[in-house]
Amino acid sequence: MEKGYGQSDPRLAAYVERVFGVADPVLEGALLKAKESGLPAIQVSPFDGRILELLARLVGAERAVEIGTLAGYSAINILRGLREGGRLWTFEYEPKHARIAEENLRRAGFEKSAQVLVGSALDRLPEIEGEGPFDLVFIDADKTSYPRYLAWAEAHLRIGGLVAIDNAFAWGNVADPKAVDADESARAIHETNVRLASGGRFRGMMLPTSEGMGIGVKIR
Ligand SMILES: C[S@@+](CC[C@H](N)C(=O)[O-])C[C@H]1O[C@@H](n2cnc3c(N)ncnc32)[C@H](O)[C@@H]1O
Repeated sequence: MEKGYGQSDPRLAAYVERVFGVADPVLEGALLKAKESGLPAIQVSPFDGRILELLARLVGAERAVEIGTLAGYSAINILRGLREGGRLWTFEYEPKHARIAEENLRRAGFEKSAQVLVGSALDRLPEIEGEGPFDLVFIDADKTSYPRYLAWAEAHLRIGGLVAIDNAFAWGNVADPKAVDADESARAIHETNVRLASGGRFRGMMLPTSEGMGIGVKIR
């Protein structure tokens, strides 16, 4: 049989969950705080969180940007992967989410290395451009803005820097041309995937996570 993309044996997902699903009191505490505060449970999975930490380590990231903070769960994972003295700027529209995130980041020991910027990411991203170029940009906010977030990452990553984009399967909708036509979010995510896949300044691929994580290294 020809080797294709990903794997479809559900026993393997269960195997990975069993072997790599180790307890993590800090992350579990952050989730509990989010739940008690009534935030939606739309953070990345523990496995995707681990992938984010590894991606940060792999590119030797010191300066990272996250678009879509929620309660700081993925932020904690990224911060764990940064080099000594590294910094994360993370953007969050909802003031309540930002407050919970700041508390979770403080509890995780990252109050000095993380800054939560409240408001529309597209409005506030220009404020940090002077801190760049950046090593890592993680995109996980409003889906219709994904193409513009990717364009920002393209402009402000260093060569060799990495963009990671969550929900790149659009909950299955990208595989359905009718859904891509009808749904603005699916269309924006598809457009972002195509841009990563078709070269330009990125060398890209889709990690076969449950939600799809597009990744691309800026090569020119
Ligand atoms: C999927 S959640 C982020 C989850 C987080 N990355 C994690 O895995 O822990 C998306 C977040 O983006 C925020 N958001 C939505 N639109 C935004 C915008 N235009 N600018 C900044 N944040 C936005 C939402 O309020 C929400 O908290």
